Amino acid sequence: MVTAKRRSKPSDASGAASAPDRDAGLLGAVPFACAMFAGDGALVAGNARYREEFGELAEHGEREALLARLQGEAGDGERPREVLAPHSGRWYALHWGRAEHGGDHVDVLTAIDISERIETLDSHKTRQEKLLFTSRLMSVGEMAATLAHELNQPLAAIMNYLNGSLRLVEQAGGPVQVERALQAARTQAEHASAVISRVREFVRAREPRRDAHDLSQIAATVLELLRLEAERLQLRIDLGLPARLEPVFADRVMIEQVLLNLVKNAIEAMREIPTARRELRIDARMNLDDQIEVRVSDRGAGLSPAEQDQLFSPFFTTKTDGLGIGLAICRSIIEYHEGRLFFEPRDGGGSVFGFTLPRFEART
Ligand SMILES: Nc1ncnc2c1ncn2[C@@H]1O[C@H](COP(=O)(O)OP(=O)(O)O)[C@@H](O)[C@H]1O
Ligand SMILES: [Mg+2]
Repeated sequence: MVTAKRRSKPSDASGAASAPDRDAGLLGAVPFACAMFAGDGALVAGNARYREEFGELAEHGEREALLARLQGEAGDGERPREVLAPHSGRWYALHWGRAEHGGDHVDVLTAIDISERIETLDSHKTRQEKLLFTSRLMSVGEMAATLAHELNQPLAAIMNYLNGSLRLVEQAGGPVQVERALQAARTQAEHASAVISRVREFVRAREPRRDAHDLSQIAATVLELLRLEAERLQLRIDLGLPARLEPVFADRVMIEQVLLNLVKNAIEAMREIPTARRELRIDARMNLDDQIEVRVSDRGAGLSPAEQDQLFSPFFTTKTDGLGIGLAICRSIIEYHEGRLFFEPRDGGGSVFGFTLPRFEART
C-alpha cells in the first residue's frame, strides 16, 4: 500500500493501526485504482492499483498536478471524466467522491481502465468511415450512370444529323472537304457513344454478382485493354498463371477493374526506366491460407516507406495527372470480397501489388 508522507490533518491516534495504513487498507478493498486527496490536494492514501497505474507519474501525489498531466477534455463539470494517461497510453474514466474523514472532507478518486472500450469504439469508427467511403464511390457510379443516360439521347441525335448531312453532300456530289469533315465527326461521335455504352454496362454490372470465374480469362480481358499501351512502351508482359488454377468466387467486372488498376499503375511506374528493364509479371497461385493470390510485379522505382503508409488513402497520388483513387477503389472491392490488397517491395527492384480472393469451391 502506498501512503502519503503529507497529510492534511492527523486523524485521531486511538486506532491500533496507524491512520494512513488504515486508509490504504480500506482503499485496498476497491478493485480499481483508488486514492484519497486532502482538501489542499495532497495525496492522503492510495491503493496498490493506484500506485501501479499512476505511481510512475511524479505528479501522482498532488491532485491538481496529476490532473494536469492526464490528457482529457473537461466535461460539463470542471474536471475531465475520461483521460489518457501519457506514461502508459491507457484510458481511464475518473470518478470523484466526497467523504468525511477525521473531521475533514477528502476527495476520493476512482480511476477505471476503459482502454478496451475506447479501442472498440475506435475500430468501429474506422469501419464506419470505410463504409462511408465505399458508399461515396457508389454515388460516383450513380452519377456516371445518370450522365451516360443523359448524354445518350443528344449523341444519338447528333449521329442522325451527321448521317443526314452526309447523304445530302453525297447526293450533291461534294464538296469533298465537307464530306470528309462530316465523316470524321461521325467517327468521333461513334467513339463517344461506345465509351458511354461501356460506362452504362459497367454501372449496370455494378450490383455485385459473385460467381465462379477463371482468373486467366480476367487477365486476358485486362491485357487486351492495355495491349496498345504496353506495345507503345515496348514493355514485356509475362503471365504466370498455373494451368489448373481453381476458379475464384468473385464479381468478374469488379476484379477486372482491380487488375486493370494494378497493371496500369505498374505500367505507369515503368515509364521512366530504360526499355530493357521494362518487365511486368502477373502471377497467381494458391496461398497457405487456401486462397487464390494474384500478384502484379513491376520494375519501377518502388515506394518509400512514407509513400507506403499513405498508399491506400483516397486521393494520395505522386503523378501530375493522377487522381489517387485507383488503389482506394481496389481496396474497397477486395475487402468486399473478403480478400486482402497488399504491397511488397520486389526482389531486384520494383513493386509487387497483390490481392487475395476466396476459392469458389470453398464457398459452395
Ligand atoms: N506499381 C507502382 N509502383 C510505384 N508506385 C505506385 C505503384 N502503384 C501505385 N503507386 C503509387 O501509389 C499512388 C496511388 O496510386 P493510385 O491510387 O492508383 O492513384 P494514381 O495512379 O491516380 O496516382 C501513385 O500515385 C503512386 O505514387
Ligand atoms: Mg492508378
